[in-house]
Amino acid sequence: MEQKVTVPEIVKAKAVGRPIVALTAYDFPFARIADEAGVDLILVGDSLGMVVQGFDTTLPVTMDEMVYHTRMVARARRRALLVGDLPFLSYQVSPSEAVANAGRLIKEGGAEAVKLEGGKAVADTIARIAAVDIPVMGHIGLTPQSVHRMGGHKVQGRRRGHAAGQRERLIEDALAVEAAGAFAIVLEGMPLDLAAEITARLTIPTIGIGAGAGCDGQILVLHDVLGLCERVAPRFAKRYADLWTAARTAIGSYADEVRNGAFPTAAHSFQALATVTPLEGAAPSAPRSTKEAAQA
Ligand code: KIV
Repeated sequence: MEQKVTVPEIVKAKAVGRPIVALTAYDFPFARIADEAGVDLILVGDSLGMVVQGFDTTLPVTMDEMVYHTRMVARARRRALLVGDLPFLSYQVSPSEAVANAGRLIKEGGAEAVKLEGGKAVADTIARIAAVDIPVMGHIGLTPQSVHRMGGHKVQGRRRGHAAGQRERLIEDALAVEAAGAFAIVLEGMPLDLAAEITARLTIPTIGIGAGAGCDGQILVLHDVLGLCERVAPRFAKRYADLWTAARTAIGSYADEVRNGAFPTAAHSFQALATVTPLEGAAPSAPRSTKEAAQA
């Protein structure tokens, strides 16, 4: 997938057995880096409530905040498919409100698709959003907006049964999300054999997070991948860098150099124009721009 990734490309990836690489991003620089690194799908997740805003859950995140972050990411994204997350209570109150809020992520945020959490209970809502041609990504299993029902951010589907969060119910949820018209589904925090079974039973791609290798793709939270969290990352997340330590060391060096006078040096300072010696024989010319003046 070298050119722009679209919803049909993501759907096709499952058919041809090409793993889907997804990652969250919440602002311009990291979205640009993720896009340049070749990620297929960027999700502006409501996980920003925890990794950017510093809350313990995703529940406080608002629609306006999701639009704000999605806009930043949209300006950076060139190739990846951009999916905006619908935050808590932006789609649960009524399908009409859900369509309006999904529309905001597309119209104001620049997203190309939206994601929402839940299974059978939100199937009608998925169908209503999909009916206005807004592509919808489902999300079942450990759904962080259900943190209080689950009693914490806990792995789901470990027990058999049809109650919320139990194994057979998660299969029913996945089938309902597909039947409602979702183009893909996130499977979060569930046993790997359950995720593999759901993947085999669905025609739409599954994108796993803490759901094992049997999914059609994987997604992780950017801050877990880069080691940008003070908190311990979840066990399923692999840390590929330690930017927290790198940033703390860099800022510490800056602070030390300001305090001991090592920064700024002449290289970081400007001279008054009067002290610049013109080249021999050449008449001094006025700078053409403020940039040129700053470089003088
Ligand atoms: O909000 C989020 O970042 C998510 C991913 C973890 C799938 O929902």
